Amino acid sequence: MQSLTVRLEMVFEQVRRAANGKDSGRIIDVGSDHGYLAVRCLEEGLVERAVCTEIHKAPAKRSEIALKEAGFADVSEVFVADGLTGVPLKDGDIVVMAGMGGLNIIDIITRAVKDNDFRVLENVTFILQPQKSNETVRKFLAGSGFVYEDESVCCDRDIFYNCMRVVYKGNSNTVTDMEACYGPVLLKKYADGDKKVAEYFEHLDSIFEIRKRSNPTVESALKEKRKNERK
Ligand SMILES: C[S@@+](CC[C@H](N)C(=O)[O-])C[C@H]1O[C@@H](n2cnc3c(N)ncnc32)[C@H](O)[C@@H]1O
Repeated sequence: MQSLTVRLEMVFEQVRRAANGKDSGRIIDVGSDHGYLAVRCLEEGLVERAVCTEIHKAPAKRSEIALKEAGFADVSEVFVADGLTGVPLKDGDIVVMAGMGGLNIIDIITRAVKDNDFRVLENVTFILQPQKSNETVRKFLAGSGFVYEDESVCCDRDIFYNCMRVVYKGNSNTVTDMEACYGPVLLKKYADGDKKVAEYFEHLDSIFEIRKRSNPTVESALKEKRKNERK
């Protein structure tokens, strides 16, 4: 079985939850690099097919070799492409963007929303693991009509990561600065006493203490969280 880092195991777990009970179609791994996630999803039978896209040729080749060596050449395709360009979405698709910058993720989703029919988008799950700019991603998701199915966190070699699972509903919404910075789902898990999320929030608080000096969104989020905790 293809082993994954702790971070990618978290992403894989969200794919498992998305695939659970549904007609497992395709995983589309955008920015697949080594291709390990697609291999593992096929090995575990979560999906029938895998599509990997890579903006660079060398990682695309790595993905292709990994899928071929694992015996999945017939049920996989690898494209050198920017995001989802040239890959029309289908009902039931699970799209993963992991280990990428938040602004890059926003750009790819914005184009995907323009390029695909609303009725198809409604039946696609997006699993997002931004390396940075979480608050911008969450504001974008709310404003663009995405809703959360789940969000999880992990600590991999002393670095914290989060992973969102969202679906498109089309109704634009707003989030408070606190929700944007901490995540609506994670705030709920925190209130319910989730220890992993509490550790993550402690880490975020310490970073936000520094970032608040130059970032009004972060400053307002910290204030709102402290106020809620005093209630
Ligand atoms: C840090 S790696 C993460 C690889 C893997 N998804 C993971 O989580 O381990 C990011 C990958 O995304 C690719 N990438 C960056 N922007 C992209 C885009 N717009 N479209 C497709 N691939 C992209 C990079 O070439 C790189 O291989």
